[in-house]
Amino acid sequence: MARITNTAPLVDQLGRRHTSLRISVTDRCNIRCFYCMPNENVQFRPRHEILTFEEITRFASVVSQMGVRRLRLTGGEPLVRHDLPRLVRMLAELPNIDDLALTTNGILLADQAAELRSAGLERINISLDTLQEETFQKISRREGLDRVLAGIAAAQEVGFRQIRLNAIAIQGLTETEIVPLVRFARERGLELRFIEYMPLDAELKWQSGDVLDGAKIRRIVEMEFGPLVPVPPLHPSQPANDFEFADGSGRLGLIQPVSNPFCESCDRLRLTAEGQVRNCLFSTAEWDARAILRRAVRRRAGSSPTPADDDDLANLVRACVRAKAPAHGIGTIEFTRPERAMYQIGG
Ligand code: 5AD
Ligand code: SF4
Repeated sequence: MARITNTAPLVDQLGRRHTSLRISVTDRCNIRCFYCMPNENVQFRPRHEILTFEEITRFASVVSQMGVRRLRLTGGEPLVRHDLPRLVRMLAELPNIDDLALTTNGILLADQAAELRSAGLERINISLDTLQEETFQKISRREGLDRVLAGIAAAQEVGFRQIRLNAIAIQGLTETEIVPLVRFARERGLELRFIEYMPLDAELKWQSGDVLDGAKIRRIVEMEFGPLVPVPPLHPSQPANDFEFADGSGRLGLIQPVSNPFCESCDRLRLTAEGQVRNCLFSTAEWDARAILRRAVRRRAGSSPTPADDDDLANLVRACVRAKAPAHGIGTIEFTRPERAMYQIGG
């Protein structure tokens, strides 16, 4: 990979240093969670717009020279992308990357866990909002909880460095899921995080009253399991507030983007499946990396990209970081929703 000229860290105007990149590998998904996608007639991006594994790896290599150390693959649903382990292998070979993770809905995980693990994937987050098929279908509008559970079991068998369960908490729908999910996670030695529902649903139905906030979740958990003890974060910029149970077994995280935003410690950048760089889930602007990635290929078909092209990519990312807003502002009068829904950005 070509070296870039200016390898200074990616620091924004508030002094936040960007060390983490979330890469969406597809906008497609095999289920239709109401907090993310439309139920019918989804308009997916045509295949030729989606970055190739080589383009993704090149982008990751450029930002890794400016201090990005952590990568997470997302979607849509990343496991629907053909041959994903090949991308994992390519990214695992980048010299500066010391953390490679993936977020999945788990539906296809039983088939792919072993191959992903041996390709170099270290950590995995699996979405699990409920343990009841009926509620699973209300949320995802498809069948498949049994396959998700099989995916979790398979992930445990192949032995990732870390397996975490992510549950979106929704007022009026998943209150009764909280205690069973905590029990499920504790019995299996898995970490569990509850995440507040954010205004990123494609159907634009989100209302602040739908958010089951972290304080309520904590009360429900404590009624069953006794007082939660706050513990220091595992990673300084992690969005979750972590807790241990009074009996010392298990760890619980609350991610509260709505009731307790963590923007001031944000270290994340995002690359969408079709190659747009974003400085926030909620940003309303994007920076077009694909144009640069493909310009180089057109100009010099067959030969590898020159350092000058990689410098253009680096400058684009710097401009994106420089323009990062202090906070997303959910709940303020100025807040405007991004034009894209979650599956089009990358979770
Ligand atoms: N609010 C919060 N989390 C969401 N996710 C998808 N849509 C939303 C939303 N509107 C989560 C998924 C998964 C990750 C990719 O993003 O449940 O854990
Ligand atoms: Fe698919 Fe994830 Fe969106 Fe659910 S939240 S529809 S699993 S991309």
